[in-house]
Amino acid sequence: MSLRSLVVKSNGPFFVLAPMDDVTDTVFRRIISETAAPDLYFTEFVNVDGLQSPGREKLLPKLAFTPSETPIIAQVWGKNPENYYKTAKEIKEMGFDGIDINMGCPAKPVVQNGCCSALINNRELTGEILQKVREAVGPDFPVSVKTRLGFGTIDNTWHEFLLSHKLNMLTIHGRTVKEMSKVPAHWDEIGHIAKLRTSLSPDTLIVGNGDVMTHKQGVELAKEHGLDGIMVGRGIFHDPYLFAEQSPWEGMSKQQKIDLYTKHVKLFGKTWQNAERKLVTLNKFCKVYIEGFPGAKEFREELMAAESIDDLLRMLKSV
Ligand SMILES: Cc1cc2nc3c(=O)[nH]c(=O)nc-3n(C[C@H](O)[C@H](O)[C@H](O)COP(=O)(O)O)c2cc1C
Repeated sequence: MSLRSLVVKSNGPFFVLAPMDDVTDTVFRRIISETAAPDLYFTEFVNVDGLQSPGREKLLPKLAFTPSETPIIAQVWGKNPENYYKTAKEIKEMGFDGIDINMGCPAKPVVQNGCCSALINNRELTGEILQKVREAVGPDFPVSVKTRLGFGTIDNTWHEFLLSHKLNMLTIHGRTVKEMSKVPAHWDEIGHIAKLRTSLSPDTLIVGNGDVMTHKQGVELAKEHGLDGIMVGRGIFHDPYLFAEQSPWEGMSKQQKIDLYTKHVKLFGKTWQNAERKLVTLNKFCKVYIEGFPGAKEFREELMAAESIDDLLRMLKSV
């Protein structure tokens, strides 16, 4: 099925849960699918060179998903076009709804290795990767890219280049690589890329990303800048119901919040029985749920010192 027919709505933008490494795994995605589901999910980014190496087994949990987290796109990164080719074939066979290539991550080790946002300055390799991925999955399987406004400065030649590859979707995080996350996202610039799309590749869906904290804000930004979709990352840390038109989160009781965290911890324990994910990764979520009531900070400190799932569940039950 085409990506457009899977996600595009007649009454507003489609909402996407952003890929966030060590955060948006199958467990958290399932929690969000039951609070307020987005229209599209992404996996965390997975390295194609690692996947095609003896270290593969360790990376496979990042590609785990269940039918409740669909439609879902697998996000990959890496360097070797042959490994992109092999991985893209596998991703299609695994039942994903598309493949996305990360061309935006600004982390130093990754960039120094010529991957992710470093591709902005390497059009030859980018072209080769896109060609290999398309060759692997065929003309009908969705291929997308998530990138930024440019490397050191805003650079629309980059977006023109990407659009010339007739991607099914292009997600723009509205900052340059140099800006990291230090300045507000430039939504006008994302809007400009949507206009370029209209003339260069009208079938490419454009998704805007950066600093969206509420559903309403997302709807307004999409309308103002002519975007098809809105991707939300960190906003979900402040409201696990962000994808609902009317979020009930602020009015929820301490017990309801604790119950939601308990559900997350139980699902985490059940899913990662062989310690595929370390217990400390749960600490990232503690603040999402354990907040907004008297004593929350002290309770969080207690919970974050837990040494096992059972320990955590006992503490959560004793409140
Ligand atoms: C903890 C964390 C992990 C992230 N991991 C990824 C990733 O794996 N792939 C990716 O494309 N972006 C990743 N990002 C970037 C987000 O997807 C998003 O582009 C960025 O946070 C800006 O959007 P926001 O303001 O809605 O959070 C990550 C961001 C955070 C905070």
